[in-house]
Amino acid sequence: MNHEMISIVPTDLDPRDAYRLLISAVVPRPIGWASTQGADGSLNIAPFSFFNAVSNMPLTVMISVGQRRGQPKDTLRNAQETGEFVINIVDEDLAAAMNITSGEWAYDVNEFDRAGLATAPSIDVKPPRVAAAPIALECKVTQIIPVQDTTYTMILGRVLRFHIRSSLLRPNGAIDATLLRPVARLSGDEYATLGRVFEMKRPA
Ligand SMILES: Cc1cc2nc3c(=O)[nH]c(=O)nc-3n(C[C@H](O)[C@H](O)[C@H](O)COP(=O)(O)O)c2cc1C
Repeated sequence: MNHEMISIVPTDLDPRDAYRLLISAVVPRPIGWASTQGADGSLNIAPFSFFNAVSNMPLTVMISVGQRRGQPKDTLRNAQETGEFVINIVDEDLAAAMNITSGEWAYDVNEFDRAGLATAPSIDVKPPRVAAAPIALECKVTQIIPVQDTTYTMILGRVLRFHIRSSLLRPNGAIDATLLRPVARLSGDEYATLGRVFEMKRPA
């Protein structure tokens, strides 16, 4: 194998090439499929792979939302208006529907309907969850942070409640990743499923 290295300064690249480099280097990325509701009650759902869990108690998650033609995406607008969102986890059965909801639909288009997705009511927040999602996290917005010098905005939210398909829960309270069959994003149109799962004991 050739281990020769190449060094690249992102600001030397065309921004599109720099973006492609970043999202193909930071892989696989989990997908947060965020449902939100506007002040007028309109429903929205869209996938975000700039998504992660960022803290322990209180449990906090983050999505980072770019702009569309200089305007905030609907997810950010709704999070600002109503301060709530639900993160649905995408399994292999839901991948195609998730992809449909990433279309650049107008604000008044309900992507749940577009993708043929049934909703289920949330308990502590207004935006509904995806009924078929194996896991959903009801979240309250805690911080909205512009990412310096970029067009992105980070939305941080506190997890108020989990909805979990009971067959996925192990006796120790963790979710069985193999049974979950999560879908992750790579770059371009590429996605990944879970590969080999292995264990390592932490050093004392
Ligand atoms: C798998 C996947 C991951 C995505 N990740 C992001 C992301 O992290 N940030 C972002 O701004 N857009 C991301 N997008 C694009 C948005 O889903 C898309 O712009 C969507 O239309 C935004 O919807 P909204 O205007 O209803 O919020 C992603 C799309 C896909 C298919």
